[in-house]
Amino acid sequence: MKMTRIFAAAIAALGFAGTAVAVEGDQHAPHQHHWHHDGPFGTYDTSAVQRGYQIYQEVCASCHSMDLMRFRNLAQQGGPFASDMYPNPNDNPIVMQIAASYTRVWNQDEVNDDGDPVERAGLPSDAFPAPFANQQMARASNGGAYPPDLSLIVKARTGGENYLYSLLTGYEDAPEDSHLAAGQYYNPYFAGGAIAMAPPLAEGIIEYADGTEATVEQMAEDVTTFLSWAGDPHMETRKQMGAMVLIFLLIFAILVYLAYRQVWANVKH
Ligand code: HEC
Repeated sequence: MKMTRIFAAAIAALGFAGTAVAVEGDQHAPHQHHWHHDGPFGTYDTSAVQRGYQIYQEVCASCHSMDLMRFRNLAQQGGPFASDMYPNPNDNPIVMQIAASYTRVWNQDEVNDDGDPVERAGLPSDAFPAPFANQQMARASNGGAYPPDLSLIVKARTGGENYLYSLLTGYEDAPEDSHLAAGQYYNPYFAGGAIAMAPPLAEGIIEYADGTEATVEQMAEDVTTFLSWAGDPHMETRKQMGAMVLIFLLIFAILVYLAYRQVWANVKH
């Protein structure tokens, strides 16, 4: 373990990592939401991550890619569908089923005898399928705007989770003096206020697999939790490591102190 890693872990344990920073320039500071995974001992709310994946899959994935994710990641240790029964995520039946629900050409190098790329059902080792073949097609379908890849979006935006939650719940009627182009919507949390993404969430647009009521706030919280997890899947391990480091340092400090007393015990001052 490198010293810098230990240091990072210790700092993370103190709760500095991932703390929301105030947004400058925007009209509104994001809501300060309480997240289950906040703080030095916070862990991801697994049900929220599961529901959030459902939102991503059923709502956001039609426009936003998550290039860094593979289906198997969903069943890795700490992931939403992790199970002790399937230590190898490739064997996890939930993830196999999710992957198999997509049929497409996954890899241009997988060809038939005529040399044409073949379609097949997805496997846990396949990457999340991107909605568009390239950036140009993505822009063409979205009035020229590019829906960014969501793999690291929580880390990529000032305010992190709070920004994302506020963005998703913060659409408003445009004030008189705002100049919205066709295909733009007013959202005070988005820099400049005019965003080319229609409000993606509306009450009841999906039915949660676990029966939770699908309010806009609930969906925003869940999808944000999922995206936080996706961008930082090892957070829990890191926090645990941080706590261990602190405990170790504490014990070490006590030992050093006792040794110091011992060494100087018989020395006359
Ligand atoms: C119909 C297509 C579409 C859907 C569905 C969609 N988005 Fe977007 N999204 C966009 C576009 C286009 C942009 C770029 C907006 C711009 O640059 O003005 C965007 C931008 C974003 C941004 C970046 C904002 C920023 O600060 O730059 C985030 C975050 C985001 N979307 C999250 C989501 C989430 C989460 C969902 C699902 C709940 C979702 N989107 C669903 C089209 C979509």
